[in-house]
Amino acid sequence: MQRSDHYGSLEWFEREYGKVSEDPWGLTWRPSQWLRYRRALDALEMAEEPLSKIIDVGCATGDFTHLLSKQVGRESLLGVDFVDSAVERARQRFPSLNFATESIFDLGEKYPAQFDAVACLEVFYYIDRLQRPAALQSLSGVLRRGGYAVFSSLIGPPPHFSNQEFLDLVGSEFQIIGFETLYLRWISLLEKAGNKFERLIQRFGRLEGNGQGRPHIGRLPLPAVAAIEKWSRTLKRLTASHTIILAQART
Ligand SMILES: C[S@@+](CC[C@H](N)C(=O)[O-])C[C@H]1O[C@@H](n2cnc3c(N)ncnc32)[C@H](O)[C@@H]1O
Repeated sequence: MQRSDHYGSLEWFEREYGKVSEDPWGLTWRPSQWLRYRRALDALEMAEEPLSKIIDVGCATGDFTHLLSKQVGRESLLGVDFVDSAVERARQRFPSLNFATESIFDLGEKYPAQFDAVACLEVFYYIDRLQRPAALQSLSGVLRRGGYAVFSSLIGPPPHFSNQEFLDLVGSEFQIIGFETLYLRWISLLEKAGNKFERLIQRFGRLEGNGQGRPHIGRLPLPAVAAIEKWSRTLKRLTASHTIILAQART
């Protein structure tokens, strides 16, 4: 029997969000994550038609939804997450955007064929293996005929997927248009180590915060991160971190 607060359950996420005032993954300050978002946006730009109605599923505290809002109109964009406190934080951070508390499993019925595209980044490895097909069907249910879906996932040992496993999973419901591997592992390590180091120094009063509660390493400009990522590609498996997939609804 599985405990109700197991990894990936609503209770588990609520506890993780309860430990911090933003999001549990540093999505607001980690430049590696901004680069991941940039690449997901690039993938959506491969779509052959304009995408004016988009739903961001598992939006957390709204960073990617906010980036999407710069590409599509604000009214035609919806960010959803099943954790109330995440949605509340997203609303506070981006009051002009639309957010709602929804589970991925209810979307197909609630918003049938209402969107041109769905973004579902870093969500599937939290979903129980047996429930993944239902989650994918629910996502394809929100799309109009030929609508697009962009996915991203950490790749690595379980609970994460290998590149091929993630492609197979998405390909079981959608038609894959293209995919890209990102090589952010070393940058992520640098971010986490840099953050810990800065906190330690701050505790001893040697370094002042940058006034936003963000570590200094979060100031690393995106072109620098992109350059490190490009260089990391030469190390292949050692640094491969994420797969981004662009796919299209079959029906
Ligand atoms: C790691 S965060 C990813 C946030 C953002 N999409 C990104 O890529 O940075 C995963 C988010 O998915 C949400 N989530 C997980 N399972 C979900 C489900 N069944 N329905 C809706 N949201 C879910 C979690 O609450 C969490 O905020």
